[in-house]
Amino acid sequence: MSEIGVFEFQGKRYEFPVEIGSENEIAIDIKKMRSSTGGIITLDPGFKNTGSCKSAITFLDGEKGVLRYRGYALEDLAENAKFLEVAYLVIFGELPTKKELDRFENTIKSYTMLNEEMKDILDGFPKNAHPMGILSSLTGALTAFNPHAVDIHNEEDMYEAICKTMAKIPVIAAWAHSKNLGKPMNYAHNDYDYIENILQMMFMKRNERYTTNKVVAEALDKLLILHIDHEQNCSTSTVRIVGSSHAGLFASISAGVSALWGPLHGGANQAVIEMLEKIIEDGGDVEKYINKAKDKNDPFRLMGFGHRVYKNFDPRALIIKKSADAVLKELDIDDPTLKVAKHLEEVALNDPYFVDRKLFPNVDFYSGIIYRALGIPLEMFTVMFAIGRLPGWIAQWREMRLNGELIGRPRQLYIGKNKRDFKPLEKR
Ligand code: ACO
Repeated sequence: MSEIGVFEFQGKRYEFPVEIGSENEIAIDIKKMRSSTGGIITLDPGFKNTGSCKSAITFLDGEKGVLRYRGYALEDLAENAKFLEVAYLVIFGELPTKKELDRFENTIKSYTMLNEEMKDILDGFPKNAHPMGILSSLTGALTAFNPHAVDIHNEEDMYEAICKTMAKIPVIAAWAHSKNLGKPMNYAHNDYDYIENILQMMFMKRNERYTTNKVVAEALDKLLILHIDHEQNCSTSTVRIVGSSHAGLFASISAGVSALWGPLHGGANQAVIEMLEKIIEDGGDVEKYINKAKDKNDPFRLMGFGHRVYKNFDPRALIIKKSADAVLKELDIDDPTLKVAKHLEEVALNDPYFVDRKLFPNVDFYSGIIYRALGIPLEMFTVMFAIGRLPGWIAQWREMRLNGELIGRPRQLYIGKNKRDFKPLEKR
């Protein structure tokens, strides 16, 4: 195979090096395109064809429905490992030994306290503020309480910053939930593990002893593993690009939370349940909504369907669908939205509109159903996604900084007015 990419324009031939990834992905390196062609740039809105970085964290093959973290199949990790183990793998590159995992867990536990003044900021939010807004703002605010800029080349410093981030963000998430309900804010307790603490902080009543429901904790653990990383998606690219200006970890992650919130990204899990409930309220006519989704004059889209990269099944959706069945059975819950979701999926997967466009259920199609079965309220779905995605954001931020990546600064094709003369106000 030729190892150069050739581009011809106005009779001139330009050659660019080709890079091959470890899974034989091919990329034409156009770093020198602008300088060698006298100013020509590429135009790729939405970055459908643009690799923004080289990364050794996650491999995904959207055509084959493959997703691997650091070389390990997601299915294996979800089946055999715990969330913190996989978080360690994604951040540091290798599965931890028992000693490394204990140290990771204990260091995280040592940082779960938040400055009490954070509560003053929380007090300023209206009671019905969306928890994603609170999570993004308070994550940004952590920068003010932890002004020390991490030295990324100092392993200990970096390790502490990673553990602090892993420790504090679930606390903020739980506080955002308590704020909505007018409940007292709970802290993590070192007797509980990471997942138990998320549940305990959200659901513990001060006047009762808290006991973890194992089915709930295991299901949440698995769900969070599935969300840990997904290479250069919208929120991760946001974290990397904000961090590329050497903004701190908390500031970059706060931006990632905001990016995740949108209904075309992590906000889709909430939007799916809202859609399923609307279909039920409207008499359960699934075909009507399929037709709405196909109608180009109707802005409605089938939420939880389609993906920028997966043009086959989303492997996360397959695991979640199985898990949804099992969790609902174990918790003895009969959720009508699951029935509607399955019906919707069946109709869509047999409809040429969805088949031709390769639109399959994505991770969010079934995750909301499990979250609901676990007792997590609708507004907290995307927050749970953020907790799951946190190790991925940290890993990508760290990799970007350690690779010494340049500040992210795309070009544009200007299509505005040409130079014109200023007209004084009285002549306009
Ligand atoms: N319902 C109906 N039609 C759809 C849907 C959908 N959910 N998704 C895509 N299409 C159609 C588009 O209208 C377009 O049709 P056309 O070729 O006739 O114009 C075609 O499929 C391609 O769609 P694009 O929007 O170009 O695909 P893109 O890769 O830009 O978008 C996205 C991917 C944003 C996920 C899209 O499929 C979507 O909006 N899905 C619903 C929201 C959702 O579930 N988001 C969660 C994604 S997973 C995650 O972020 C964790």
